[in-house]
Amino acid sequence: MERELTLELVRVTEAAALGAAQWMGRGKKMEADDAATTAMRAMFDSVAINGTVVIGEGEMDEAPMLYIGERVGNAEFPLVDVAVDPLEGTNILAKGHPNAMSVIAIADRGNLLHAPDMYMQKLAVGPRAAGKVHLDDPIEKTLEIVAKANNKRISDCTVIILERPRHAELIEAVRRAGARVRLIGDGDVAGAINVAFDSTGIDICVGSGGAPEGVIAAAALKCLGGEMQARLLPEDEQEYKRCLDMGISDPKKILLMDDLVKGDDAIFAATGVTDGELLKGVRFLGGDRAETTSLVMRAKTGTVRTIKAVHCLHNKPNLVLI
Ligand code: FBP
Repeated sequence: MERELTLELVRVTEAAALGAAQWMGRGKKMEADDAATTAMRAMFDSVAINGTVVIGEGEMDEAPMLYIGERVGNAEFPLVDVAVDPLEGTNILAKGHPNAMSVIAIADRGNLLHAPDMYMQKLAVGPRAAGKVHLDDPIEKTLEIVAKANNKRISDCTVIILERPRHAELIEAVRRAGARVRLIGDGDVAGAINVAFDSTGIDICVGSGGAPEGVIAAAALKCLGGEMQARLLPEDEQEYKRCLDMGISDPKKILLMDDLVKGDDAIFAATGVTDGELLKGVRFLGGDRAETTSLVMRAKTGTVRTIKAVHCLHNKPNLVLI
């Protein structure tokens, strides 16, 4: 993959974020997702890749665009796998809450786990704790390891967990162990990435969430030197079979970084839609202008860029203004 691609991909997440942000707080998550997807899809036509969507808006018969298996990009090479979440946090955006964003990850063809849309158990830690944790360790042990690696007391550590009834026991265990808990309503991609940035104060992201989101977060953590471990959680025979059909021979095995994102290269881009710890959301500045903040990074070089851009909205033919 050429390095120029990193900047091309930011244009794609910027477009999706601008599309979605207009719907912030309007209580219309479908419309917001639609706006993000339409804008992202249109922008892909200008990117010089031969991409196949491996994580997207759904299967071919349920999503009109950016469906799994769809070809994106306008070139013959490079051959890449594309994972997209045009609007990560549809509920967040509908309510105007923090941490909604548009995200993309790409890697050489065959290198992103073809993750079915099901739940996945996840554990994400930052660079200092990478290589030291194990998904099946009790959370108390994980906290000890991560606290030591991050040179903190357990009581200074913060763990991000999606606020769901299924996590009640896990949340209690973290509290009993003495750590601090940040419960989030949605958006565990941002939650997982936060562990790799000291400025967020987050040490661990743990719990179950969407498998596609897990792979996208793993791509980001590969760029940042952090670690994600995961396990697919097929809920019935049918879901189990879907994993087999997608080439996952042992659907219950622990997925390490190289199972989630193979190889030494991946590019990740995200643009904030609403404000979050890492990214500012879209600001409509008046006078037909809007500002976006994006994060783009590449595993091969480890470069992490934050890009602030001011856009003239009337010069965006692909943007449907509401
Ligand atoms: P959407 O953007 O598709 O609404 O996903 C939001 C999200 O919170 C993800 O970040 C997370 O992985 C998943 O949903 C959790 O699923 P559930 O809401 O079913 O617990």
